Amino acid sequence: MEVKLVAVPEALPEKVYNTEKVGISKATHDAHLGLWKGYANKTNEIRKALAEMEIDPAAANQIYSQIRALKVNYAFAYGGYLNHSVYFHTLGGEGGPATGKAGDLITEAYGSFDRFAAEWKATGMGSRGWVYLGYDHEEQRVAIYAGDSQDTYPAWNNTLVLAMDVYEHAYFLDFQAARMKYIEAYMQAIDWDAVSARIPG
Ligand SMILES: [Fe+2]
Repeated sequence: MEVKLVAVPEALPEKVYNTEKVGISKATHDAHLGLWKGYANKTNEIRKALAEMEIDPAAANQIYSQIRALKVNYAFAYGGYLNHSVYFHTLGGEGGPATGKAGDLITEAYGSFDRFAAEWKATGMGSRGWVYLGYDHEEQRVAIYAGDSQDTYPAWNNTLVLAMDVYEHAYFLDFQAARMKYIEAYMQAIDWDAVSARIPG
């Protein structure tokens, strides 16, 4: 069985460093790139382990078993690879009110950008790790989801179009414990063109 592997770019997109003007530093991003690589490495390790595993369905167990460990941790590893990919590729823009297709869908779902921004910030303070904007293929609308991590509270049939990391490693160096200040800075650096480009159709 050929194992498909994932890879993180050697360097972050140059535009990511535009966030320095709102106070999110290069040092934060460079350390964060290392964490993103860790998710890619573990994704690949689990894919290989699954491909090479002698599978005995009778040995599987819901309390602890090799298949359980691989499956449960795969969602954390690959989810962390994917959500960091969206995080970095949608950073480094002008922020402010959403534009283009993203702006239209946000206005449709939330009535106004201000209402969306309030729910986005509140979700960032109410989550332990992530805030997600999903494009729901079922309803053809966007919605904000909370994620304590990459393997909690997702919804099926959504495409992830914007992802804000609120784990402390994303902001502590620059803002110490002032998470709201980081969220407000982040919102001044969203690349809405990149978000719109991720929306299907
Ligand atoms: Fe992160």
